Amino acid sequence: MKTILVTGGTGYIGSHTVVQLLNAGINVVILDNLCNSNKAVIQRIENLTNKSPYFVEGDIRDRTTLRHLFEQYSCDAVIHFAGLKAVGESEENPLKYFDNNVSGSVTLFEEMLRVNVNTLIFSSSATVYGNPGVVCYSESTPLQPINVYGQTKLMVEDILRSLKKSKPDFQIALLRYFNPVGAHESGQMGEDPFGTPNNLMPFISQVAIGTRPQLMVYGNNYPTPDGTGLRDYIHVEDLAAGHLAALNHLGPDNSFITVNLGTGRPYSVLEVIKSFEKASGKTIPYEVVGPRSGDLAEYYADPSFAKTVLGWEAKLGIDRMCADSWRWQKNNPKGYL
Ligand code: NAD
Ligand code: WQD
Repeated sequence: MKTILVTGGTGYIGSHTVVQLLNAGINVVILDNLCNSNKAVIQRIENLTNKSPYFVEGDIRDRTTLRHLFEQYSCDAVIHFAGLKAVGESEENPLKYFDNNVSGSVTLFEEMLRVNVNTLIFSSSATVYGNPGVVCYSESTPLQPINVYGQTKLMVEDILRSLKKSKPDFQIALLRYFNPVGAHESGQMGEDPFGTPNNLMPFISQVAIGTRPQLMVYGNNYPTPDGTGLRDYIHVEDLAAGHLAALNHLGPDNSFITVNLGTGRPYSVLEVIKSFEKASGKTIPYEVVGPRSGDLAEYYADPSFAKTVLGWEAKLGIDRMCADSWRWQKNNPKGYL
């Protein structure tokens, strides 16, 4: 039976992936410093799977923790979710992001090398494309991140491309996520941001449950059909399944892949609001304000390579994304607290 180290495994995408790994009969060791997640997630994972992941509370930058972990558990692969992801904060505090996301990743990779764990899946992001002048991004679209967070993701991608050259035995998947949303169908696991949500879906959910009075729609003068921004939202369960597909695909003959994980079908802010209202039966009050700095009008994935190479494609549409987000929010008005 395989054992996989999941860094950031108590976080939003990590927790959903851990459930799918455990359900697939894979042992899981979670390493998370809980800087953006709650330990209560573990109990939810156990409720959903009747299995227990091993949990190590610690930091990917802490070499001693990593050494102990790799001594204690014989890991076959690593799925590396741990990272900071707030674009605005990354601009205000770039060193925090380079330290956590880049130095932390380097420390993790060094310790993997020491113990010959050479299979890795890395959480990259559509942010690595920046503002390339096209709206449909394929994996060969030029990479030019426009914020520090995106730079950290591109730097880790570059580090892994170099590592692969120097250590051909490494098997690496770089997965570029578009806009993950939704929650586990059970309503027991979902996104639980600390403080004010930066992202659209958790903000709408909190308006629907009454935690916040209204949504601010960032701009309605974009060159899009209804003037609001268009994004490629992808259900977190589809995204988690993409990791299992990547894990199955990697092997000596398929040892380095870079794949977009999106649906290829973008939705506008107003369309998301409408779909959420339908799912929840609630009205979402909103006010249109000016555009948010750094936002693009529109972008979405070309998901065809994922289908060809991994046999994976997203199955769940916007109505299901909203229904599952709402079920999670309704059952857990204060998140995991
Ligand atoms: P999240 O914040 O919910 O999960 C990240 C987890 O990593 C958290 O549990 C946090 O406590 C942990 N962590 C952070 N730094 C750590 C460190 N130094 N040591 C140990 N643990 C640490 O975020 P998420 O949405 O689940 O994202 C997971 C990964 O996917 C991140 O790398 C993120 O950059 C990437 N990603 C996310 C999105 C998105 O919109 N959610 C999109 C593209 C890529
Ligand atoms: C979606 C749309 C906003 C909030 C970010 C990161 C990206 C990736 C995913 C990690 C946009 C609009 C939003 C609100 C709004 N993360 N909006 N009111 O900006 O596409 O991507 O998360 O890798 O790197 O940049 O996602 O959910 O913030 O915004 O009108 O309160 O909703 O303008 O059009 P974004 P988002």
